[in-house]
Amino acid sequence: MHQKLQNLKNEALARIISAGSAEELEDIRIQYLGKSGQLAEIAGQFKNLPPEERVETGRLFNDIKTAISSAIESSPLKVVSTASVSDFDPTLPGIKPVIGHLHPVTQAVNEIAAIFEKVGFTRVRYPEADWDWYAFGALNFPKDHPARDDWETFFVDVPPDKKFGPLVLTPHTSNGQVREMERVKTPPIRMINIAKCYRRQSDISHTPMFHQFEGLVIDEHITIANLRGTIEYFVKSFFGPNRTSRLRPYHFQFTEPSFEVDISCGICNGKGCRLCKEGWLELGGSGMVHPEVLKAGKIDPQKYSGFAFGWGVERCYMMKSGTKIDDIRLLYDNDIRFLNQF
Ligand code: FA5
Repeated sequence: MHQKLQNLKNEALARIISAGSAEELEDIRIQYLGKSGQLAEIAGQFKNLPPEERVETGRLFNDIKTAISSAIESSPLKVVSTASVSDFDPTLPGIKPVIGHLHPVTQAVNEIAAIFEKVGFTRVRYPEADWDWYAFGALNFPKDHPARDDWETFFVDVPPDKKFGPLVLTPHTSNGQVREMERVKTPPIRMINIAKCYRRQSDISHTPMFHQFEGLVIDEHITIANLRGTIEYFVKSFFGPNRTSRLRPYHFQFTEPSFEVDISCGICNGKGCRLCKEGWLELGGSGMVHPEVLKAGKIDPQKYSGFAFGWGVERCYMMKSGTKIDDIRLLYDNDIRFLNQF
């Protein structure tokens, strides 16, 4: 019986190795392992063995059965066997790949650009590392202005330009004002400059890198009424039709007169609540372009006038109805659990 089993094993393994198709492999399986196959026939003869041989022969029988069935299972022909093809159900839903989305700040940048482009503004971008002249000098900043101090501004460690001074990481998008005047040369100018800005600040409402969007409009007969209308158009488009804005007198070196722009609080609608105290939230700066700045851009202040504004993208996004972000730094922590919500 032992010899018979060994011969059967050798014969089965040789046939499995040389099988040429999945069908042939299946025939071999039935012939050796099937209900009426050769192993079943041998098992039927166990009862005739003397009892002392049965245990030993049974062990050998099991080993041989396992060897034949694992040789069949691991045959490369098994992969394309009709059994696995028929198990495949093409109607089952697939596994959905994870799809990301744009960062909330990029979403806000795109939305802001579209709002201004709709009313004829041209989107531009100017260097985010720029010369002192464009960031400060041309904007009427005196030499000793605190914004030029290296506690506020990042200075790039390269030799200063003879004409334009040191290189800085732009602390605001206002560096684009004179650059745009140089590009267009003759008004009308309707610019929206959205770019990264850098300041040495970090707390719940400040990040060292943030975005601003800077509007600049220059033409004949531009007045504060045009500034007012443009701000109100943006506030209603971006924050919603129930929000409104107001101008508060302020001071910037490069606008005269200058204003701080506030929007009505989205929670109390301007009545006053715990969040806003007096019903208003600060949005950013604005004003009528200073004649000295027009001159720096070689535009005649006797003939042309203009307005400008510059606001933070992240702050605007945080103030938008429905977003309850209480720390601006969350936007740049890159925590996917936070970003997934937007
Ligand atoms: C300015 O930067 C002026 N250039 C704006 C301007 C442009 C005035 C044109 C007049 C005409 P200010 O420093 O206030 O102004 O910054 C404007 C806005 O940028 C702020 O209201 C705030 O929304 C945003 N901002 C400033 N610093 C940071 C910061 N560290 N992190 C995030 N947002 C900031």
